[in-house]
Amino acid sequence: MQSPPRLTDGFGRHIHYLRLSVTDRCDFRCTYCMAEDMEFLPRAQVLSIEELALVAEAFTRLGVNTIRLTGGEPLVRRGLVTLCKKISALPNLRSLAMTTNGARLGLMGAELRRAGVNRINISLDSLREDRFKALTRFGALDKVLAGIDVAREAGFDGIKINSVVLRHHNLDEVKDLARFALERNLDISFIEEMPLGHIQSHQREQEFVSSEELRKVLSEEWALSPSAHESGGPSRYWQAAGFDARIGFISPHSQNFCDSCNRVRVTAEGRLLLCLGNEHSVDLRRVLRAPNIPHPVEALMEAIVDAMHIKPERHTFSERDAPQIVRFMNATGG
Ligand code: GTP
Ligand code: 5AD
Ligand code: SF4
Repeated sequence: MQSPPRLTDGFGRHIHYLRLSVTDRCDFRCTYCMAEDMEFLPRAQVLSIEELALVAEAFTRLGVNTIRLTGGEPLVRRGLVTLCKKISALPNLRSLAMTTNGARLGLMGAELRRAGVNRINISLDSLREDRFKALTRFGALDKVLAGIDVAREAGFDGIKINSVVLRHHNLDEVKDLARFALERNLDISFIEEMPLGHIQSHQREQEFVSSEELRKVLSEEWALSPSAHESGGPSRYWQAAGFDARIGFISPHSQNFCDSCNRVRVTAEGRLLLCLGNEHSVDLRRVLRAPNIPHPVEALMEAIVDAMHIKPERHTFSERDAPQIVRFMNATGG
């Protein structure tokens, strides 16, 4: 059998991981991710389920073997299960993953597993009801905890908890969050907040906690040794003595991981974003919606291969004169 072609950017990095956003909408408004009064895209501007499936097909034909569905919150997108079935049936795909806030997993977790989703990441920044509400604005902790239970029963190959750490909001809870995950045999990643979009709720610099500082705090509780485990993304893992699950750190500020970048993103409106921290992009919706286009997948493939030349070398989040990224995370696809 012929092996699929590889997508390679101008710095020799192989791209085999696509983060595909299925909606910019969300039933939460996490303070670090969104402003309180958000305007969402008109529906006509969002890719249809059929268009999203064509985009996924084009990428897998170019050697992408991992697709992570993101949002906004992917579980609020109508037709999501149909999309998962279409994507998981694509030849060459090794993993169909999803990142979710977990609130609807109680309703949909088992169905998503049956539709071919094999890995799932669930955001959880606090185990205290009042705090969880304050951080997510609209979220209810009990629903997310119930969603995590359903996901554990559903037989996913991997479940990871994601916690964004903010100094004055949840730093004092990191041991509780790690214990919650380890005792349930779930991996957990602690994330340094990234400056995407202008928010009013807090000053991002004042909330910054480096992964190094966090690791020291967690080491008071568990002996941590470096783990060779890789989940495909930027998380670097440590093994906590006595547990199978791992503690990971995503450190865009303190430990730049752009050298090993293997991914690109497609936003819900079909914009191929070459880097989370830069604006370089190509409009795939225009390619898809061009009149009388006989072979949409081939046309997409051509546009994607061309786009590799403009993938930037790195983000510059931590530099003083860095370009301001005005997109919020929900518009970016996580
Ligand atoms: P896996 O390793 O496949 O489990 O996924 P992940 O941890 O990369 O994905 P997830 O959607 O759970 O994202 C966790 C955090 O990592 C989010 O804050 C993402 O925005 C961030 N992240 C993912 N990919 C990148 C990247 O390429 N660059 C940067 N700076 N952050 C990223
Ligand atoms: N910085 C870091 N992580 C963020 N997330 C959302 N916004 C930000 C941000 N500004 C996280 C969510 C979710 C993942 C998709 O991205 O908590 O786990
Ligand atoms: Fe919604 Fe996720 Fe953003 Fe929170 S981080 S508002 S759950 S998209």
